[in-house]
Amino acid sequence: MSRPPITGATRLAGVMGWPVAHSLSPRMHNAAFAALGLDWVYVPFPVRPERLADAVRGLVALGFAGCNATVPHKAALVPLMDELTPIAAATGSVNTIVIRPDGSLLGDSTDGHGFLMDLWAHGVEIGKPANRQGDDHAAAVGPGHRALVIGAGGAARAVVYALAEAGVRVAVVNRTVAHAEALCRLVAAALPKAELSAHPFPEALPRLAADADLIVNTTSLGLHGDADPLPWDPAVPLRPGQVVYDLIYHVRTPFLRLAAAAGAHAIDGLGMLVYQGARSAALWTGHDEAELAHWMEKELTHNDERLR
Ligand code: ATR
Repeated sequence: MSRPPITGATRLAGVMGWPVAHSLSPRMHNAAFAALGLDWVYVPFPVRPERLADAVRGLVALGFAGCNATVPHKAALVPLMDELTPIAAATGSVNTIVIRPDGSLLGDSTDGHGFLMDLWAHGVEIGKPANRQGDDHAAAVGPGHRALVIGAGGAARAVVYALAEAGVRVAVVNRTVAHAEALCRLVAAALPKAELSAHPFPEALPRLAADADLIVNTTSLGLHGDADPLPWDPAVPLRPGQVVYDLIYHVRTPFLRLAAAAGAHAIDGLGMLVYQGARSAALWTGHDEAELAHWMEKELTHNDERLR
């Protein structure tokens, strides 16, 4: 797919990370822009942590419309923004900068949105009545339903906030239970009606697993395949009707294989990557998020037998 020639009218966006070379975002954003005939380009920027404030000032000076941020910049961007969306403020994380025409900066976090949108795309209804017509895999996770989230790092924050906001009861299970407690306090401060609880990993799994409608791995365990310990206790059964989501998208993790073998609906994190990016691009371009997501996913999945 070819894009229009780059001219003075071409709009600019990108991603800052350190390192950034591994990022799939330039590929998926540029593919979507080209497919939709949008005169935009998306550039990867290797930005050292100590140069982050300079880089942000540079984006404004250069007339960028916005930028994404990945590891290790998401928390450090917070004090550099003029305004934060509620989820970015509550989770202390910015993955999307929107540069307004007056040069002011809005910081958003689209990771939680991406997570929910991908559940929706898989027929898992969050905070809505279940069972849309024509979806064989529809499962219900919404108000009154229970999620078990493994891990309490930055990725967990976005997921727990999004689930709690959708009215899901969330049990956070983490090796260091104090980190899970801190996460629950953080989210509860922003969402006082949220039903959250913190538990030790792996001891609490047998007690919590059977009642969980949705189980989410937010840790990096599984990134190295079978070389990593499972983020689960294999003696604790998973079952059909449960949705098991692993934020890892680089490989089909042993945890997802275990879940699929038990008959659970196993989903990897590729769609979350796609939808967080589509949301960012929609904020910048004003273009339809679903259309952007369609072309981003197509770009990442074509010729890749491992994914989907
Ligand atoms: P991210 O910001 O990407 O979510 P992180 O902040 O490094 O990553 O969080 C990693 C999560 O994986 C943490 O919840 C961590 O547990 P601790 O809070 O106890 O450190 C969890 N984790 C990492 N290695 C683990 C292991 N071997 N067993 C269980 N949990 C692990």
